[in-house]
Amino acid sequence: MSEALTSAASILPCGGLGTPFTSAQYVFAAERVIVNLVDNAAEAMEGSLVRRIVVSTRAVTPESIELTVADTGCGVSPEDKEKLFLPYFSTKGRGTGLGLAIVSHILAEHHAQIRVEDNQPAGARFLIDIPTAAVAEVDWSPVEAKA
Ligand SMILES: Nc1ncnc2c1ncn2[C@@H]1O[C@H](COP(=O)(O)OP(=O)(O)OP(=O)(O)O)[C@@H](O)[C@H]1O
Ligand SMILES: [Mg+2]
Repeated sequence: MSEALTSAASILPCGGLGTPFTSAQYVFAAERVIVNLVDNAAEAMEGSLVRRIVVSTRAVTPESIELTVADTGCGVSPEDKEKLFLPYFSTKGRGTGLGLAIVSHILAEHHAQIRVEDNQPAGARFLIDIPTAAVAEVDWSPVEAKA
């Protein structure tokens, strides 16, 4: 992993070795992931007549939850689908190309996986598979109970 990505990711809170994530850390990580995906979706729709972002979740199996962020933007070409999650890959003049690399890094810490598909009839759809076991490992006890 690149140095810049390591330092960008190191500011993110995470559970230490053998330490479960706290609920605050988990929510912060989820927010970083969703904000990055929604920012990208909004930028991809700048030239679109129909601009629609749908964020949804569904239980796929008892072991897995799926979080989806779909848009009606320009979509992703088959060649770019291979490179999307690599650090510094960007098709934007002012982009760092680190957004999706950081998203992948955060998700890997939570044993989750992301992939991209074509949305129908237009745009891109990012699907995240989250193992329910990883969610169950989070320390969900109320903050005041820990004092
Ligand atoms: N929803 C999307 N629709 C179409 N292309 C996308 C979408 N999300 C990401 N991409 C493509 O993936 C590339 C990498 O995204 P990433 O978020 O890593 O970097 P960036 O958005 O270019 O830069 P930054 O996140 O620093 O602003 C983008 O430049 C764009 O080409
Ligand atoms: Mg981005």
